[in-house]
Amino acid sequence: MIELAPSILSADFTHLAEQVQPVLDAGATLLHVDVMDGHFVPNITIGPPVVAALRKHVASKIPLDVHLMIENADNFIPAFVDAGANWISVHQEACVHLDRVVQHIRSRGALAGVVINPATPVATLTDILEVVDYVLVMSVNPGFGGQKFIPRTLGKIRDLAELRAQRHLSFRIEVDGGIALDTIESVVQAGAEILVAGNAIFGRGEAAQNVQQLLHAARSATLRKA
Ligand code: DX5
Ligand code: ZN
Repeated sequence: MIELAPSILSADFTHLAEQVQPVLDAGATLLHVDVMDGHFVPNITIGPPVVAALRKHVASKIPLDVHLMIENADNFIPAFVDAGANWISVHQEACVHLDRVVQHIRSRGALAGVVINPATPVATLTDILEVVDYVLVMSVNPGFGGQKFIPRTLGKIRDLAELRAQRHLSFRIEVDGGIALDTIESVVQAGAEILVAGNAIFGRGEAAQNVQQLLHAARSATLRKA
C-alpha cells in the first residue's frame, strides 16, 4: 500500500499544528519527523519534546515516523518511544551494534527501520533484513530538506524489492529526499511504498493540494506497475 509521509522539516515551526492538520485531512497516513544532532549530519533539528507535542496534537490519528540522524541512537530510543514515536529508524552508518539497536526499538513496541545513505550499499543490510519492519533508502545525503533527488538510488530500491521477494520477507520500503511530482513515479515503479516529502508539500503552494497531487501521481504509477 502506498503511503505518503510529509516531513515536517519544511513546515513552519511557529504554526506546526495548523500546518499538519490539512496534510492529514488530504490523505497523508504517516508523519515523518527528522531528528538531527549536528554530529552524524551537519544540522540540528528537534528532539523528543516536539515529538510529544505532535503526538498530543494528532492524538491517535496518525503514526509518527521518527527518522534518527544521530549518533548513539540507542540511548535515545526510550525517550522517543515515551514521546509517542510509533516508527523509529536508525542509520546503518551510525550504529556499530545495529542488531542490538533494532531489537531495542522493537522491544519498546515501535516498528524498527534501518536507513542507508546514498553511498551505502544494500549489501550492508543482508543480515538485518529479516528483523526490520522497514528499510529507508535515502535519495539525498541526509541533513537538509529541499535537495535534489539522486537517481542512482533507484537501483537500491529495486534491489531491495527483489531481495524481499527472493527471501520471502515482509519489510516495507521507504524513500526519503527530493521526492516531488517529477520523481515520485520513478521511486514507486522501483518498488518504494512509503514516500517521504518535505519541500514538495510544505515548501510551495497549498500543502493539502500538494498531498493530493503527490498521492494521485504515486497511485497512478502503482497502477501502471501492476
Ligand atoms: C533529509 C531528511 C528528509 C527531508 C526530505 O535529511 O531526512 O526527510 O526532510 O525533504 P525533501 O522532501 O525536501 O527532500
Ligand atoms: Zn527523513
